[in-house]
This record gives sequence, C-alpha cells and structure tokens, in this order.
Amino acid sequence: MKISIFGGGYVGLVQAAVLSEVGHDVTCVDINPRKVDALNRGLIPIYEPGLDVLVKQGLSKGLLTFTIDAEEAIQHATAIFIAVGTPPDEDGSADLQHVLKVAETIAQYMNEYKVIINKSTVPVGTGARVKSVVREQLKSRNVICEFDVVSNPEFLKEGAAVADCQRPDRIVIGVESDKAANIMREIYEHFNRNHEKIIQMDIRSAELTKYAANCMLATKISFMNEMANLAEKLGADIESVRQGIGSDPRIGYHFIYPGCGYGGSCFPKDINALLNTSRQVSYDAKILKAVDRVNQKQKQVLFNKLHQVFNGDLVGRTIALWGLSFKPETDDTREATSLVLINALLEAGVAVQAYDPQARAEVGNIYGDQEELTLTDKKEDALIAADALVIVTEWKEFRSPNFELIQQSLNYPIIVDGRNLYSPQKMKQLGFIYYGVGRGE
Ligand code: UGA
Repeated sequence: MKISIFGGGYVGLVQAAVLSEVGHDVTCVDINPRKVDALNRGLIPIYEPGLDVLVKQGLSKGLLTFTIDAEEAIQHATAIFIAVGTPPDEDGSADLQHVLKVAETIAQYMNEYKVIINKSTVPVGTGARVKSVVREQLKSRNVICEFDVVSNPEFLKEGAAVADCQRPDRIVIGVESDKAANIMREIYEHFNRNHEKIIQMDIRSAELTKYAANCMLATKISFMNEMANLAEKLGADIESVRQGIGSDPRIGYHFIYPGCGYGGSCFPKDINALLNTSRQVSYDAKILKAVDRVNQKQKQVLFNKLHQVFNGDLVGRTIALWGLSFKPETDDTREATSLVLINALLEAGVAVQAYDPQARAEVGNIYGDQEELTLTDKKEDALIAADALVIVTEWKEFRSPNFELIQQSLNYPIIVDGRNLYSPQKMKQLGFIYYGVGRGE
C-alpha cells in the first residue's frame, strides 16, 4: 500500500521504516532539507537501536523515500499519517500548530479520497479540528472530495522504538467510517496476523487512550517513588516491597521501579497537557497534579542526598555523574533528571565530571563552555579525584563496574545511586558508603 508520513522525528521515522519493512511503499516528508538529504543517504539523526538497518534496507529496496515535497507525498498515497511534534505551550497544553498546518497542506493538494491519520499525541477533540481545517481548505479551493480522519496513537518507547513498532501489543484506531477502518486494517495487516491487536473505537476515545496510558504509567512511578521515600523514613527496603507487591498479578512487576524521577519527551508533557484539558472542562484532576508534583520533587532527591552526605559543605567539591539521558538506550535528555541535578550542583559551587554512553553531545550543546562541567569519554575518567559518584541513568555498563577502581579513583568511597543498581549489603562489604532510593540511610 502507498503511505505518506508527515514528520521525520522519532515517531514518524520509526513508523515509516517499520511500515516499509513489511512491504508498504512509504514516503516520509520533513520540512528540514538537510535532515531529508541525510536520511536519503541512510544517515539517521537520532540514536535508536535497529533503526539505521531498517532505514537503509527500505532505501535500498526502494520502499522508503524521504522528501521535502509535500505535494508529491500527498499525491503518492491514500493513507497519510501526521506524525509531527506537539511541543508544550507556555501553559502546558499541546501546541497543535504543526499538526493543523499539515492538515491544511494535505487539503491544499488533495483531489481524491484520503484518510488522514493522526499519530501525534494530541488533545481530545483534535481529530474534529483537523476535520474542520481540511473541510474549510477544500471549500476555499472549491473542491469536493471525500476524506476521513483517524486517530491512531503511538505507544512506542524510546530506546525500544523499532521493536515496539514491529511487535505492538495493541493498535488503537479511532474511526468514524468503515472505509477508513478497512484501510487501517490493511496498513496493519502484517502486525495483526496471529491474533487481533486492533482495538477500534471512536476518535475522542482513541485520543484519550494515549493520555490515559502515559498518565497511568507516570502515576505508577510517582506512587512507587512516594513509597520509596516513605520506606527510607520507616527503615524499610523498597526493593523488597517492590517484589512483594509486584508478585500480585493485578499490580505486576512492570514499571514499578522507584528512582530519581521520570523524564523524557512524553510523561511530563502529557501529564501537563491532560491537566490542561481537564481545566478546560472544569475538572479538578487531583491525581494528575500529585503525580507531577511528586516527580518534580523526586528529581531533587539526589542533590538532597549529596547535601546530606557532605553536611551541606558542597562548595568547591567535585562530583562524578554517570548517566545523562532520561533513560538508557537513548541520547535524549529532554526533561532528564541529570539536568536538574547538574543545575543544582553548579549553583551550589560544585564541579561536575559527567559521563554517558550516548548523550554527551546533547548535554555539551545545552551547557556550552561551562567551565565547571566536564564531559568525559570514559566512565572511569569521570571518577578521577571526585568526592562522590552519583548514578542517574541505569545504562547496562554501570551495572557491574570495577568497584575497586571506583574506590581508588574517588576521594571518598561514596555512591549515591538514583536507580538502585547495587545491593546495599554488598556495597557495605566492599567498604562503600552507599545511598540508594528507598533503601535505608
Ligand atoms: C513513554 C511510554 O512508556 C510509551 O508507551 C509511550 O509511547 C511514549 O512515552 C510516548 O508517549 O511516546 P518513553 O518516554 O520513551 O515512553 O520512556 P519510558 O520507558 O516510559 O520511561 C519514561 C521515564 O520513566 C524514564 O525517565 C524512566 O527512567 C522512568 N521510569 C520508567 C521509572 O522511573 N521507573 C520505571 O519503573 C519505569
């Protein structure tokens, strides 16, 4: 099937690559000519495991092309995805200008039936807005042309985006006509083979499903972080508690890891966007507010622990920091706890020596030539003559480090671990002063 996708960002790019892998003829449109040019040469602008192979494969088979030419892309396909960004506005609501602009562009060039599929995360009611933008544009062109709008939210996780897209656990489609539903079934036929994964509903419910999913996941994390803070005060170990509650299948083991707060381009943004939507319909969403507040506080936990370890005597110290991305297997640092911690440390007069396997360049761009922040090429180099080590992201290479070397390199054998990677008993035996989250003082 011929498919066009507007937006060569995380969602659009992964979707384009995976749909071309299963044999669809996909054109991906982006407004950035340099990005399009690079993509056509197989150069991927983001770090995402497995994506480069798929893109190169799609290009060489001639099933995947990148273009800046919107008109060509609109003529190319009956099914057109909108997968452009919806960054937060000043008030936290999703900024829909890019989505609506694409809708207008589609209507500007379409002359026959199209199904316009919204993949971007958009507030409830956006499907209806897209519909009216298209209708108005067609009217102003004096063109009579049938079309459908579909909501098809994306549930992929950064760092596992390709695998999530190749093996989705559900495909949510919000549709209003059988014609559009059948086209959606055709697009996803390959993924729906072994058992039914398509969950069909109305457009507004599909839009809310996306927010409800992310907000539920964020709620689980903030809840666990609250339990971890409580466990610390009560002398309990959150790791035992996590196993104790996760064994109940109604709760489950997934996504209940406490830590130093959630980040990324989705949870913080989506909680705020749904809070905004709630306000618009005069609903006081108390749980959502609390989830956000708990998370903001949790991002300060590491600094507070360091402050406590050194009895407030932080000026002039050097801290080694492992992990800058908001989670492992990505170079993305949007809303990352590492940035909150770095800012607090720099403000307190502390020098930071930081290492991350992928996100050094991103952080380098954010801080420029900040003298008190050194980004090292090896995790071991970050440790040299530092007063303590702080772990912010649970990259695999931090799981079994050379503890002897850590002890030799640091001025004091202090580890503050925001991801509970090590056993407090083992760390004690090794002679470390070790602080996890929710694991006792
Ligand atoms: C999230 C959702 O998990 C995806 O299903 C969704 O499609 C995506 O947002 C989106 O809306 O596009 P993502 O932001 O890539 O995916 O990352 P997650 O793996 O969900 O992690 C988010 C944050 O939660 C990270 O900072 C992570 O460290 C933290 N986290 C996760 C915890 O603190 N504890 C956990 O148990 C799990």
